[in-house]
Amino acid sequence: MRKPRPLAELLRPDPMLRTVCFVLALAVGGISVSWAQTAPAEQSPEVRADALLARMTVREKVGQLHQRFLNFGKAPTDEGLAAGDYGSFLYARDVAAMNRLQQIAVEKSRLHIPLIFALDVINGYRTTFPAPIGLAASWDMALIEEARRIAAREARAAGITWTFAPMVDIARDPRWGRIVEGAGEDPFLGSRIAVAQVRGFQGAYPGAPDRILATAKHFAAYGAAIGGRDYEESAVPESDLWNIYFPPFRAAIDAGVVSVMSAYQDLNDVPATGNRWLMHDVLRDAFGFKGFVVSDAYAVGSLVDHGFARDQKDATWRAFSAGVNIDMDASFYLEELPGMVEQGRITVAQLDAMVRPFLIAKFQLGLFEKPYVDEAAAVSILTDPSHREAARIAAERSAVLLKNANGLLPLDAKKLKSVAVIGPVADNVYDPLGPWTTTADLKETVTVLAGIRTYLPKSVKVEYARGAQIARKFASEFDQFYDIPPEKPWTAADITKAIRDAVAVAKRSDVAILVLGEAFNMSGESASRAMLTLPGNQERLLEAVIATGKPVVVVLINGRPLDVRLADAQAGAILEAWYPGMHAGTAIARLLFGDVTPGGKLPFTWPRHAGQIPIHYNHNLTMRSDAAGRRTWDEESVPQYPFGYGLSYASFAYSNLRVVTPSAALGEAIEVAVDVENVSDRAGDEVAQLYIHQRAGSASRPVRELKGFERIALAPHARTTVKFTVPAQDLRYWSGAQKAFVQEAEAFDVWVGTDSRAELHGEFAVHP
Ligand code: BGC
Repeated sequence: MRKPRPLAELLRPDPMLRTVCFVLALAVGGISVSWAQTAPAEQSPEVRADALLARMTVREKVGQLHQRFLNFGKAPTDEGLAAGDYGSFLYARDVAAMNRLQQIAVEKSRLHIPLIFALDVINGYRTTFPAPIGLAASWDMALIEEARRIAAREARAAGITWTFAPMVDIARDPRWGRIVEGAGEDPFLGSRIAVAQVRGFQGAYPGAPDRILATAKHFAAYGAAIGGRDYEESAVPESDLWNIYFPPFRAAIDAGVVSVMSAYQDLNDVPATGNRWLMHDVLRDAFGFKGFVVSDAYAVGSLVDHGFARDQKDATWRAFSAGVNIDMDASFYLEELPGMVEQGRITVAQLDAMVRPFLIAKFQLGLFEKPYVDEAAAVSILTDPSHREAARIAAERSAVLLKNANGLLPLDAKKLKSVAVIGPVADNVYDPLGPWTTTADLKETVTVLAGIRTYLPKSVKVEYARGAQIARKFASEFDQFYDIPPEKPWTAADITKAIRDAVAVAKRSDVAILVLGEAFNMSGESASRAMLTLPGNQERLLEAVIATGKPVVVVLINGRPLDVRLADAQAGAILEAWYPGMHAGTAIARLLFGDVTPGGKLPFTWPRHAGQIPIHYNHNLTMRSDAAGRRTWDEESVPQYPFGYGLSYASFAYSNLRVVTPSAALGEAIEVAVDVENVSDRAGDEVAQLYIHQRAGSASRPVRELKGFERIALAPHARTTVKFTVPAQDLRYWSGAQKAFVQEAEAFDVWVGTDSRAELHGEFAVHP
């Protein structure tokens, strides 16, 4: 349902002004005033789109479905723009160039249809926030929405009106590089985060001022690539699709997301981009999606590579008839669709149905009225200090404290005389930003070293040693987008010397802060791994610094769980900072020295070792479920850290679990309350989590499923009651036996606590 749009109406030119402009335009002869070319602006975008469609040729319609990269591949031609051959571009970053292309589209084309400029606005636009997996670890929906609002505001100011985000793919395999772009492994948390992101990007309705269109991607089960190897096929039982992989898409659609991106990979032997069941039966019929589907880049073309489509024509037919509206980057639609319409293989009505939602979006965005970017206005928005402040807060609230033996953290700055900052990601400006930061200003990055130096008084000596070199074994095809000079690989002698220097620095210092992890290009697209080990010589470095006997704090900069068995066993503390964004150093210093208390929680299960994968918490029970610690003889069977885990400098106690509705009828909600007390002298945040288990049913149910959470701030010794409502909707599941969603009258367990191992237990029953 569309929401009222008062502000947008105000921003539209009034009818009188429109008429004057129209007359003026006619008078000066040939100057196009775009709103004069279509139905009047007081009409709805739908009516205006229909009026426009009625005037479009087949070629003009097909042009709207054609999206191309700017800056790579074939450059757009002025003739093509004037002919209406392009509906949208991606990777636009130069405002002057965008205005020039827009001017040709708007002023030289027959129907004056404006272009959309799209971009992957992922960690932010100019202001860089934590990477999505970090934002997810905040479990703070208001914060996530705000981060997306700011990203949208900046992007919009720079002429971007459509982002290819949020990525809502569930990732159960952290070897998959793109786990960094999503919200982790859980469908409930993932759905809530999907909603917060769609709201943040799009605002109250598509086309809201200062907001941009969002894309839920990649439909579907891209994160289930076998072996975690990017782009590979996924083989997913239908029950897992409906219960695990689809829910965040459904949530994004219910929140009004305007576009969905089809995935690259082959899903159960049918590539997602040619999968009519996915994009028609599920997306449109079951979920009621009314927007448009954009293919992933060259995914229409890849239908041939998959050994699915015979050739370009066949790929076009399959993608189009499966429900892909827009062909990103392949140009197959542009080249093939006109002929198919001419031959009657595709009807004009079918073509119109694919073009219509995209035109509606252009009207919703007000592009017909305001097609150009105001370069001067963009500057003040892109440099807004409140955006930077929000990025710092987000980095602080995303951090997860994984270990803190004997209260090593927070460090007391007053008691320190010297600090060693060691590690390959401690002092560079791009790694803390993570992948996809193509529009950041690197000069704004506060490195971890710089943050610690700025934080501490001059009386504390801060020494730095790099200690390790990290690099991908095989280069990333995306490195070309970044202007980073390649480094000569270290020799064995270089490594030995670097470790020796680091050890010397540690020995001279009161505490060693080791900043370890992965470079920005080690996670993300085309950045899957076979192992989860710390890359390069970091493990050796860690071992050597631990051997000095100095207190060791490990700060992790990364986008996926890593094998931290050594750090967990022998370092004093571990703080997971993710790719924290431009304020990495500021935030990390404030966390380490106790200005803020970490309160994030893991949005995935953290394996001890890659050999444990998959190890998601919401697995089914087995005949030997009690043998949780004994499933493998060469490594523990329990993960390093469970889903939902995260420590605090404060301590919390849970008590008094009340199941307010011990018995509920089918269709009724369940209510649960619990008391949470801060039993320490320090203020802190806790994320109270509620898990359920359905004891029997037409199909096996997971051992635990998250169904509620709330991040609460508690002053020292304060106590609060957290109330959870689990709607009947959330007790439903897709039964592999019934081949349908069911809610069953059964007995349930419920737990509330600090992570997915929560022990405080209650029960309830659902009756017919
Ligand atoms: C990625 C998408 C992205 C697109 C455009 C693809 O390679 O899979 O997530 O939106 O490129 O940049």
